[in-house]
Amino acid sequence: MPEIMQLHPRNKDLASCSKESSSSEAPEPHLEPSSLFDRCWRQYSLCREHLFTDHTTQIASAIQPLLSGTDQRSLVEAGCGPGFYSRRLAARFPQLQITGIDLSEQLLFRARERARLSGLRNCRFVRADALALGDFPCQVDVVVASRLFLILSTPALALNAIFTSLRPGGLCFIAEPTSAWSAGIPLLLMKLSERLDRCPTPLEHLPKSHVLSTNDFETLVETQPWRSIRIWKDRQYHCAVCKKAS
Ligand SMILES: C[S@@+](CC[C@H](N)C(=O)[O-])C[C@H]1O[C@@H](n2cnc3c(N)ncnc32)[C@H](O)[C@@H]1O
Repeated sequence: MPEIMQLHPRNKDLASCSKESSSSEAPEPHLEPSSLFDRCWRQYSLCREHLFTDHTTQIASAIQPLLSGTDQRSLVEAGCGPGFYSRRLAARFPQLQITGIDLSEQLLFRARERARLSGLRNCRFVRADALALGDFPCQVDVVVASRLFLILSTPALALNAIFTSLRPGGLCFIAEPTSAWSAGIPLLLMKLSERLDRCPTPLEHLPKSHVLSTNDFETLVETQPWRSIRIWKDRQYHCAVCKKAS
């Protein structure tokens, strides 16, 4: 087990919002839905599994050089949602110990269930704030952040937390949608189903997405003192692989 799996967050607030569970124990959560993602986890999971681009191959080739030795490596998927990448990478790289973190209990529950059904023993899902990642007591080898910054109001703070959480030489893979239209589809679906709810969340409380322009994406990535940055654009995403100095 990598250290991040064994140790508890040292920050009290993070500890109080961290609920660990291995993929083999998966009790149905009975929590008040606290966010749109909690309320509309089915719609989001559906979009994630069947609509969005899958960057598993690109992530795998970016992290492959770190996995050449026999040492176990740790990967955190920040804002993991239903754990799409955590599960795929766990299946592909048994030597990688993966922690998906998210604030939505419902999406975390889905992620644990899917991991359990797939028999994955090297990934777990923890309720924790990506903005508090820098408070994790142990540094990680890789952080994956897919479609995360578009829904955060303070993306640079989150990226700083990610940077802090990485060990020297660690890698961060980022994928952010380029199109407001396609990024808006899941939110639109979720908002529509929210409107059909008997107690809908007031519109002003619904999360908004902020799709980053090419310039904003580059500016965001460059807020941290990476040793190297590789940025590219595929059909619908800005992608970056950032490496921390050794
Ligand atoms: C647009 S979804 C992306 C999910 C997944 N990474 C993907 O590629 O589809 C954003 C996710 O970030 C989670 N989230 C929002 N704010 C967060 C925070 N401060 N810390 C951790 N997760 C957060 C949401 O609950 C949601 O599951």
